[in-house]
Parts: sequence; structure tokens; C-alpha cells
Amino acid sequence: MRTKQIIDQYIKFFEEKKHVRIPNSSLVPENDPTTLFTSSGMQPLVPYLLGEAHPAGKRLVNVQNCFRAQDIDEVGDNRHTTFFRMLGNWSLGDYFKKEQIPWVFEFLTKRLNIDPGRLYVTVFTGLPAGRQGFDNIPKDTESEEIWRELFRKENINPDARIFYCGADKNWWSRTGVPEKMPTGEPGGPDTEVFYDFGSELQIHESSPYKNQKCHLNCDCGRFLEIANAVFMQYKKTQNGFEELPQINVDFGGGLERLVAATEDKQDIFQTSLFLPIGETIEQLTKKNYRENSRAIRIIVDHLIAGVFIAANGIRPSNKGQGYILRRLLRRSFDNFDVLAGAAPPAGRQGISSIITRIVEQYKDTDEYLVKKFELIKNIIFEEEQNYKRTLSEAKTFISKKYNKTGDELMGITEISAEDAFLLYSTHGLSPTQIKSMGFSFDEQEFVDKMEQHQKISRAGAGKKFAGGLADHSEKTVKGHTATHLLHQALRDVLGEQVHQTGSNITIERIRFDFNFNRKLTAEEIKKVEEIVNSKIAENLPVHFEILPISRAKDIGAIGLFDEKYQDKVKVYFIGGASGARGPTAPHPRSASPLAYSERNEDYYSIEFCGGPHVDFTGKLKRFKIVKEESLGKNNRRIYAKVE
Ligand code: ALA
Repeated sequence: MRTKQIIDQYIKFFEEKKHVRIPNSSLVPENDPTTLFTSSGMQPLVPYLLGEAHPAGKRLVNVQNCFRAQDIDEVGDNRHTTFFRMLGNWSLGDYFKKEQIPWVFEFLTKRLNIDPGRLYVTVFTGLPAGRQGFDNIPKDTESEEIWRELFRKENINPDARIFYCGADKNWWSRTGVPEKMPTGEPGGPDTEVFYDFGSELQIHESSPYKNQKCHLNCDCGRFLEIANAVFMQYKKTQNGFEELPQINVDFGGGLERLVAATEDKQDIFQTSLFLPIGETIEQLTKKNYRENSRAIRIIVDHLIAGVFIAANGIRPSNKGQGYILRRLLRRSFDNFDVLAGAAPPAGRQGISSIITRIVEQYKDTDEYLVKKFELIKNIIFEEEQNYKRTLSEAKTFISKKYNKTGDELMGITEISAEDAFLLYSTHGLSPTQIKSMGFSFDEQEFVDKMEQHQKISRAGAGKKFAGGLADHSEKTVKGHTATHLLHQALRDVLGEQVHQTGSNITIERIRFDFNFNRKLTAEEIKKVEEIVNSKIAENLPVHFEILPISRAKDIGAIGLFDEKYQDKVKVYFIGGASGARGPTAPHPRSASPLAYSERNEDYYSIEFCGGPHVDFTGKLKRFKIVKEESLGKNNRRIYAKVE
């Protein structure tokens, strides 16, 4: 089945079950400094899984473009890709296992017509009390019973179909197993569905699975995980797990893998989605897929990911998303060059044909790729040129250092592992590329250096992600509320024409961009700080209401929002109830039966926002502007701190 058909079937199926389709979030998260890419459908929904009300309701469905940089080294086998689409449906405190599991089964077997005889499932064994101090999370016998019934109805012996697995396989959170979850992070047991291709792929000599008996989770290629329903019902605390205020379902189905199952293609790169792209590479390089599957899979995957990342306006660079894009593109160029051999087709023409084919394959689900085609092409071409230049600089560096002439460099030149690593770290060359340039070096020493380097950067990445998960921590929640106060205070001091043009909140600081045509004076900055601090001292209540966009605009809500995304928005109201209060004496929530938008109250701030926020401004202690600077034409930036 083609991807578009599967998406349409999926959305229709869940709309019939009263789900509201929500838009695909950006692959490059906006306003979230803590994570580089959207890597699962639930990522943009974390606040709602934790209990915030979602404007579209309690049953949501979508298809999310995802990118997982951590899978980059897995690409090359029959099923891993860095870029993929995830079919998602969510219950936010609504239905649970007895609805979700039969729906998954019905969708797979009745809508996608997958033979139930090919399906196997896993469920969670439970967390014994005391496992590293965690509470006792029970064995998921409820899911087992539901699956048993479903298999029985199909005359399939459930005993041979349902397997129990521990937390390393059947527990899902953004950071993996319970031990790795930071405080505040939601997670839960899951049930996974596998498709059986019925035969093992030929296992490579060096495979660690060579002598292992095949099982559902083994990597031999016989079984493919196609769906995962997470019962997102716990939150990590300092002392183990506590139940979330609501029980949620977070379902993810890998679209590319569902295509493989419906087409019964054990190698996802041989499905109708990827095959034409691989064939283009075969034609250009005059190499066949059978003997060069790994290299062709890498080129296909990395260029697809590159196309989608470039379509988001990211350019190759040495940090953040740009660095990942650079790595993907250069790795695909390397593999392409090696395949094409001594006489590669003119680079541009070759790459242009591949990306044209990619856009062809994706345009019926991601139309915007057509509109962005020139941008994508230019970004990728530019990188190709940069890479060529880098390679030639690397040659110059070596020829100078080792006193070699151009001719000598054409042969094999032995260089130190240190220099090889220097080329790798400064010029972004892969070891394969360094070797293909004719340099030999001590590979073990190189690997040692690389591992050491990766350890350091992983530690950095770990910190970054941990920061991300602290995103709903008290500190960032305070930052969100302080940002609303700052926005309104700037308008009070500089005039109502001032509005937000961007913002970014981390646990360390608030960054706020706005339109204004000159530097703020010291008095203006002081005044803004005073206003914000006075609103904190007043201990104003903070409430939200979900409103149609037009109504939100009518009542004067300010802030950034994207009209194309939804017809309802979340609006936060700060203030409103009369009388000043001390921070230690919070007043009761207003007893008025009217919605906040209907009350005739004088709110200090009304602003569109996804939240989360504190319930009273008195939860903040002190606000201070630390820097004010120009962002160029008519745009200013403020950095501030809140305690
Ligand atoms: N969030 C779950 C996953 O990514 C569904 O597998």
C-alpha cells in the first residue's frame, strides 16, 4: 500500500472514533532550545500528557515527520532510517487499553488488510518493587487479556503470539528506561506489535546475532516492529513514580514499516516508497543494489533526511541542526562518490536527479517540498561545493605538512592518526573519505580518539537533553509567566504598537524579541522591571481558556500564534480579580460562573500561549533584565532572569 493511502486510512479510522486531526509540528522545533529535532509524535504534546488541556480536545490523531539523529549509525540495515513518519493517536485522559488495543488490531488487519497470522505482540512484565528504588508497577495482564481475546477470535493460539518483556523493551519515555528518566518526565509501559516476514535475512558473518535463536526483538530482520501503544500513566519523581493526573495513550506507528508490512517487503528500501530512489542511484552510479545495499540505503536515507531538514530552512553548519545536516549530506556524498568510482557523474547532476526523485516520492504527502525545491537544491549544492573545497584544503594541509607534491599525494600517503583525526574534526571528513583520498593511518588509534571525542560530545548532548526535560520544571514555568508580564510591561512603557516577534525560554534565562526601532533607555528598562516586579508582588491569578481565534482576537489577546494550525487557541489571563494580595495569601479561584473571556474584569495581560504557567504571579520572586540589544532593522532582543 502506498504511504498516502495508509495515512488517509489511518486518519479516517481515528476520525471515525471521534479524534481530531492536529497538524504535523515542525521537524525543527520552534521555541525549544533543548532539542534539535522532533523525534516522536508525542514530543510536542508533553504538556498535554502531563495534564494541560489541549485546545483540540482529548482525542487527537496526526502524522508526524520525525528525525532521530541517534539512529544515524544504524542506517544501512533493512529497516532503520533517520527520517520517518509516525502515525499517532492520543487519548489525553480519555480511553485506555480496552479501546486502544482492539483499534490497533482492527486498523492493521481490517483497514490495512495485514494478515493477523503475521502478527506478534509484546507486553510489559512489570517493575518489581525496589528495582532501583522504583515503586511496584504491575505486570500488564490487562493488555495480555485483551490481546488473547483478539487472537482467539481469529482462531490463532494466543500462547504463541504474546510475549512478556521488561523495561528495556516495553517501557517508553523520551529518555528510555525508568532509570534514565529525569524527574518530571512522563512515561509508561507499552505494548508493541511485530510483523513476521517468516524468514530470516541472511545474517552477516560479523553479526552478533549470528548464533542467536531468533526472537521478536532480535535484529536478524525476521520480525519488524510496526506499532507501539504506550500507556502513558506515570511521572518520574525523586522517589520513584507517581500516577499522572490522567491516564493517557500515546500510540506510534512507523509509516515506512507499515508500507513494508503491507507490501510484504522485508527490506523497507525495496518498498514502493524507497525503491525508485535507490534505482535512480543505481542508474547514476552503474552499481547494483544487491551488492551495494548498505551504501545505497545510506544515500537514500541521508538525502531524504537532508531534503526535509533543508526544507525547514536549516543550512549546513558546525553546530546544532546545521551540523547534523552537514553530517548527513557529507556522508551521502562520500557513499555516492565511492559507488560512482573514478568517474562520478557530474556531482550536481547526480545529486539533482536523486533529490528530484525524492521530492517526487514525497510530494503527495508533503506538498511543500515542491514549493521549496529550489531552496532545498541550493542548500544541498552549496554544501557539495563546500565539501569539495574542504577536501582540497585537506589535501593542501597534508601535502604541506608531509612535504609531498600533488603527484605523490595521488599514491598512498601514510599520515598519523592524530592528523587523520584533525582532518576529521576540523574539516568534517569521515574516516572513509580520508581513506578514499589516499591517506592511510592507524585506524585503531583513530577509533580510540573518536570514541573519546564522542564521549565528550555525548556528555554535552546528555546535558542538553536533560535541560530539555527540565523544560516543564518550575524554573521554565516561571519563565513563561514572566514573559507575558514582560510583553505587557513593554507595551505599557513603549506603546501598544510593540509586540513579540520571538521568544525562547530556558532554565537559565528568558529571551524575548520585539519590534522597536531604537535602543531602550536605562529609565525605560528600569520602568519595565518595576512593572513586572509589581505584578509579581500583586500575586495575580493566572488562568487559561480555550477560545476560537476570532473571539480571542476580539477580546484583545496578544502574542504569536499560527492561524493556519488550529481554529481554537489557548489564551492565558493574568489578573482580573480585584484587590491586591500578598504573595503568601493566595485568594481562592474566582467563584464567578462566567468564563474568563466573558467577565467584565480588568486583566493585566491576555495572551495566546500553550503554557504551562504558574497559578499565581506571586510564585515568581524577582525579575531582572540583564541585556538589551539590537537584532537589526526594527527588532530588539531582551535577556532577562526570573527567580
Ligand atoms: N511515543 C511512542 C514511540 O515513539 C509511541 O514509539
